[in-house]
Amino acid sequence: MPPRAAFRSDAAALSLNGPWRFHLSPSPAEAPDGIESDSYDDSAWHPLPVPGHWQLNGHGRPAYTNIRYPFPVTPPAPPSDNPTGDHRLTFDLPADWPAGPAVLRFDGIDSCGRIWLNGTELGITTGSRLPSEFAVGPLLRPTGNVLAVRVHQWSAGSYLEDQDMWWLSGIFRDVTLLARPEGGVRDYTLHADYDHTTGHGTLRLDADPGVRVSVPALGIDALPAGQSAHVPVQPWSAESPRLYDGEVHTGAERVPVRIGFRTVSIDDGVLKVNGRRIVFRGVNRHEFHPELGRALPQAWAVADIELMKRHNVNAVRTSHYPPDPGFLDLCDRYGLWVIDECDLETHGFSELGWRDNPSDDPRWAAAYLDRMARTVERDKNHPSVIMWSLGNEAHTGRNLAATAAWTRRRDPGRPLHYEGDADCAYVDVHSRMYASHEDVDRIGRGELGPPRSRELPFILCEFAHAMGTGPGGLVEYRELFERHERCQGGFVWEWLDHGIARHDDRGRPYFAYGGDFGEPLHDGNFVIDGMLHPDRTPSPALIEFAKVFEPVRIAGTRGGLRITNLYDCVPLDHLSFDWTLEAQGTEIAVGALDVPDLPPGGSADLALPPLPATAAESWLTVRARLAGDTPWAAAGHVVAWGQLPVTPAPPPPAPASGAPVRADGTALRLGPGRFDARTGHLTALGHLPVQSPRLDLWRAPVDNDRAADAPEEQTWRAAGLHRLQHHLLDIDRGDGVLVVRTRVAPAGLGFGMRADYRWSADAHRLRLRLDVEPEGEWPCTLPRLGLRMALPAALDTVEWYGRGPGEAYADFRQAARVGRFTSDVDALQTPNVYPQENGNRLNVRHLRLTGTDGTGAGLRIDGEPHFAFTARRWTSEHLDAARHTTDLVPSDHLHLNLDIAQHGLGTAACGPGVLPHHRLHPHRASLVLTFTPLSEPLSEPVTPLSEPLPETLTPLPEPLPGPHHDSEAPAR
Ligand code: GAL
Repeated sequence: MPPRAAFRSDAAALSLNGPWRFHLSPSPAEAPDGIESDSYDDSAWHPLPVPGHWQLNGHGRPAYTNIRYPFPVTPPAPPSDNPTGDHRLTFDLPADWPAGPAVLRFDGIDSCGRIWLNGTELGITTGSRLPSEFAVGPLLRPTGNVLAVRVHQWSAGSYLEDQDMWWLSGIFRDVTLLARPEGGVRDYTLHADYDHTTGHGTLRLDADPGVRVSVPALGIDALPAGQSAHVPVQPWSAESPRLYDGEVHTGAERVPVRIGFRTVSIDDGVLKVNGRRIVFRGVNRHEFHPELGRALPQAWAVADIELMKRHNVNAVRTSHYPPDPGFLDLCDRYGLWVIDECDLETHGFSELGWRDNPSDDPRWAAAYLDRMARTVERDKNHPSVIMWSLGNEAHTGRNLAATAAWTRRRDPGRPLHYEGDADCAYVDVHSRMYASHEDVDRIGRGELGPPRSRELPFILCEFAHAMGTGPGGLVEYRELFERHERCQGGFVWEWLDHGIARHDDRGRPYFAYGGDFGEPLHDGNFVIDGMLHPDRTPSPALIEFAKVFEPVRIAGTRGGLRITNLYDCVPLDHLSFDWTLEAQGTEIAVGALDVPDLPPGGSADLALPPLPATAAESWLTVRARLAGDTPWAAAGHVVAWGQLPVTPAPPPPAPASGAPVRADGTALRLGPGRFDARTGHLTALGHLPVQSPRLDLWRAPVDNDRAADAPEEQTWRAAGLHRLQHHLLDIDRGDGVLVVRTRVAPAGLGFGMRADYRWSADAHRLRLRLDVEPEGEWPCTLPRLGLRMALPAALDTVEWYGRGPGEAYADFRQAARVGRFTSDVDALQTPNVYPQENGNRLNVRHLRLTGTDGTGAGLRIDGEPHFAFTARRWTSEHLDAARHTTDLVPSDHLHLNLDIAQHGLGTAACGPGVLPHHRLHPHRASLVLTFTPLSEPLSEPVTPLSEPLPETLTPLPEPLPGPHHDSEAPAR
């Protein structure tokens, strides 16, 4: 049947989802004959859930490749080794099923289905993520209908479906039988425009004669197809998704519809909706579930949308195919801008220098048009869809140009997107993926891009590759979207890690990635690059995203506060504001804050609320919360916050000193510290055995360090930073000071670091000052600069005063606020599917490690003034060697890294590396820490340590200047 809108009406419908019978053959040639016949005996077949993928139900195996086709490239022929899944279902019609026409609808078959009903072949369908419908009325019988579907894993269509994702086959979306009443609604297009200059909407229905639309709330009653109604309305936007309930109807059928009025335009190179410039704070969303693959139940789509809305995501690019149709209903209802992308990617031809690329081969012209038509017709009635995308990474060619021309004619109301059209020959929006900050800035200034692109809105259809720890550099992109009117945001790659849930041979759960199913050709963990872990727990990336792209900015000014409304369309009347004042992380005052209602883009300067005076370091945190319940979060949900320093930390009292260094056999004693007199190593702190703190430069490389384009990891390994040797130069026992001088350097190379440890103590506290100084020609940046040490594993409760609660790095720190936080050691770890450096906490003033025995015994570490830490049950080397979470086996130590700084994260896994100001170069630096063994709980607040900042102390990398960045300088 020709493509048409997806809708449900009051006509009878029968879901054919459920257990089907299934048989897998290695190739079409080996598949059984006669499966379409009633008498075929499928009793030896297996039950298989439909919707579902056979590879995730015990038949065959998933395979992951990014770009390369996993079969020889001989278009349009698929390989003869072509797994073929036969599906059979026997069903009865309900007793009240109406006689007459009926349609059998498949919402998605991957990749090719041949379909028979009651022995009659209905046809063959390709276009995996697109619907296909067959007229079946005369074939139906009241009972014993036999539906047989032969699905081939590979088809000509596979050449057009080379998206970066798991290859998974089968009938993976709904199958439905729909009664089609004579004189019913065959198809309809609702045009619902909004004129922001008059506040009027215009509704027009395109449909067969006799079809009408009614919208009671607007007084529109049985408006015939072809006529328009002009009425005052509230517009639809992602921020205020006003929908009007109505009906498209004939005498024979009624279709409930939800209408959103909005007009998309491009004015003077700026993309607007309802006359307002919008900025995409978006994500690329694949449909994926760790057990079900792309057969994603609606409840998970709802979970996705609620998570998006709660984390300030305002837009989705449906990478790289139309989603399940139900997802777009949710986008209409909850409010998200959508770029709806056609099911098209031929990236594998890039491996052949784009030779034979279907995009420019006339033999594929009809297939291109067919895919786009099925996308547009299915989804045309969704207000959330504000742009069509021709596909992804299919290079250029006449078939794309023709598809663009068809789409423009069919739907002039929506601009066209396609990133691959680098010249912007047939698109309305200039789009790039992974452009560097510098390129975006130049594009914004009109200095980069082909001539036509300079008159178009610019978006990053993919940026901030969220693979592993990171992405770094998000806030710098936001600044570009604010600086340049035509730079209208982007879509983070990507929403979700596509890890597949498995168990190892000891029954422990883990998430699998490419190569874990024995694929001869695969792209490893490149499929694990989302802001959600596979089980949909937000990774730190999503928390950072939510902070960077919050719709309200709360910033300090000289002596006051500035509130800026960054929504594109709505005022702030749906929010309430409150504040808390914390001294050393303990709340001492709270209040409500009166914020005038601000129009989009508006800002107001406010005086600070009346704050009690405190002697301790204090911070004011202002939060903007939902004033009422929404479908995606309850009243009170925090949409934005800002933090300002109020009282600086008081001058610290005297440092630990005065205790003598005493010899004790082969040991030296200094205050609570015990040292090995021969090595200078600290061996105990009070009753706690320790592995001595020592200089450490290594981190388990993050995915962004491992990138091919910016191979920091290779440089670091070549420089031997993972195998440093510690050479003792001398031990100096001065008056109340123990100085251990060392040189730390890799074998076989000439450069190194002087590392001097200067210990002093009083009766209870041991103070360490580490001074490092690079020597020789250093060839590279440093992964880390700090100390490592180990303590008994029993110290598994961590409390700190500093930035938290989540992990933070130099270029990934917007979401970390100053406060007092507690966690157990396990919860400090980010469960990256591919293990790597994670869990760093920044700007820590002090840290307490205690056991769960409840005695409070343990260790306190104070910085002068700050340090960063990670605490783990394994070493950086273990983390480095691990390939799956199950490789991380707790040791009987707690491994602590206490750092001056780390190299930034960047997004080099796909995109630009670490920005210059976040790179960590070898430099002279110091770290001052005081260790206090705890035999009982400390009363808080603890007196801070003293001594002015040593002049050589290198603070952590400064945030960028400018009002948008947090700063630790006090407001008064
Ligand atoms: C892009 C592509 C995405 C994904 C990403 C890297 O080139 O469009 O599908 O592969 O790179 O993760």
